[in-house]
Amino acid sequence: MTNSFPLCFSYKNGQAYLGDISLKDVVAEYGSPLYVLDSQTIIHNCQQFLDPLASSYPKSRVLYACKANLTLGIAQFLYRLGMSFDVSSGGELFTLIQADIPHDSIYFHGNNKSHSELQLAIDYGVTIIVDNLQELTNIVHLTIHNKPVRVMLRIKPEIDAHTHDYIKTGQLDSKFGIQKQDFEHFFKLFQSHSCVEFVGLHCHIGSQIFDTKPYYELVDSMMPFMSYLVKDLGLEISEFNCGGGMGISYLEGDSPFDIRTFMVDFTHYITEQFSLFSIPCPTLLFEPGRSIIGSAGITIYKVGAVKHIQDVKTYVFIDGGMADNIRPLLYDASYRFDKLHKKNLALQSYSIAGKFCESGDVLAYDVLLEEVSVGDYLLVFSTGAYNYSMASNYNRNCRPAMVMVDGLSIVPLLSRETYEDLIRFDKQLNG
Ligand code: LLP
Repeated sequence: MTNSFPLCFSYKNGQAYLGDISLKDVVAEYGSPLYVLDSQTIIHNCQQFLDPLASSYPKSRVLYACKANLTLGIAQFLYRLGMSFDVSSGGELFTLIQADIPHDSIYFHGNNKSHSELQLAIDYGVTIIVDNLQELTNIVHLTIHNKPVRVMLRIKPEIDAHTHDYIKTGQLDSKFGIQKQDFEHFFKLFQSHSCVEFVGLHCHIGSQIFDTKPYYELVDSMMPFMSYLVKDLGLEISEFNCGGGMGISYLEGDSPFDIRTFMVDFTHYITEQFSLFSIPCPTLLFEPGRSIIGSAGITIYKVGAVKHIQDVKTYVFIDGGMADNIRPLLYDASYRFDKLHKKNLALQSYSIAGKFCESGDVLAYDVLLEEVSVGDYLLVFSTGAYNYSMASNYNRNCRPAMVMVDGLSIVPLLSRETYEDLIRFDKQLNG
């Protein structure tokens, strides 16, 4: 079982550390709120996928789902670890291009890619994961006088992964993906347009999944269909993407499955199934985001005030909140909190409220912490995924900085925004 702390996290004499780096020193240098990533946790999380696959299914690739958290430095760091990438917008793709990630390591998702996004993808030569017939038609038009493009089709496996409604994607009524029964329309386009090279199928069942069963159901649902494509239509399925969604631990009681074990068992099952259906084993792709970077992250906030409401509750006001972590409000997500500096005091109950003008801007209610005073720093764990990437400038606040602690060095990944940044695109009225 994994926990919600980065691997290198510990308290030494009551002070929080990542390895030998004191988080007090990090926040003194970079300010708060601050996103901090632990490089060792990211490395470990990648190895959970890459190592077992190297022996149990070498014809495989692990794509990092950039939507979880992306900066130039994160992309470069992950690429050096052997990761490939999936992007879901032109902006994410542009970031990877600027990070010098090679085209053949990138797969492009999205249910409504614009012409300019498709053009960028085709020009750079990435694989496009097609969501609907209109998109394939658009690609065909864009490739007419152009170079060939590799495409995969996103298929709805039509199974239901048990997770929050907003983050499940494999079921029939999902906005994502193509129904198997509609494949013939796509097939016709592949047959008549040789520029568009069909390389395989993609499925993604949802996110923050704690049970391995739906992944096996996904395979069971796809095997007869793949067999039909290969045997009846004469297509080659050279790549099969089983998506991401592997859950992580946010709270003590969370029990995500062990990824190492799953990779071995799942690839055995895949090998077995392809042999049972007598079709060649494809290159297998996975695209985890949260399970690569979520547990590596800590957010550090500074306490600006403590408000006691007699017989009701005590609020701790922090210098961030819903704009740098929308997940509690959006998904009822819960996190572990602690103090940066602990002094062995008795625990008290606090509600952690953000600084934004919204009553709902409370990251957590009734958290037990040692006595909190103005000027203290709070830590929120498992904030590496979908915190910065979903951050906003609500109330015209600046988004936090991000650093990665890598052994003895602190690697800046993102500068803190400034007020100047906030008005960068504003236009003054003339006269
Ligand atoms: N592949 C596809 C096609 C996806 O849509 C996603 C996530 C992933 C891979 C990566 O899933 P992961 O391994 O990170 O669970 N904002 C939500 C999560 C939305 C996930 C969207 N798609 C959250 O904060 O929980």
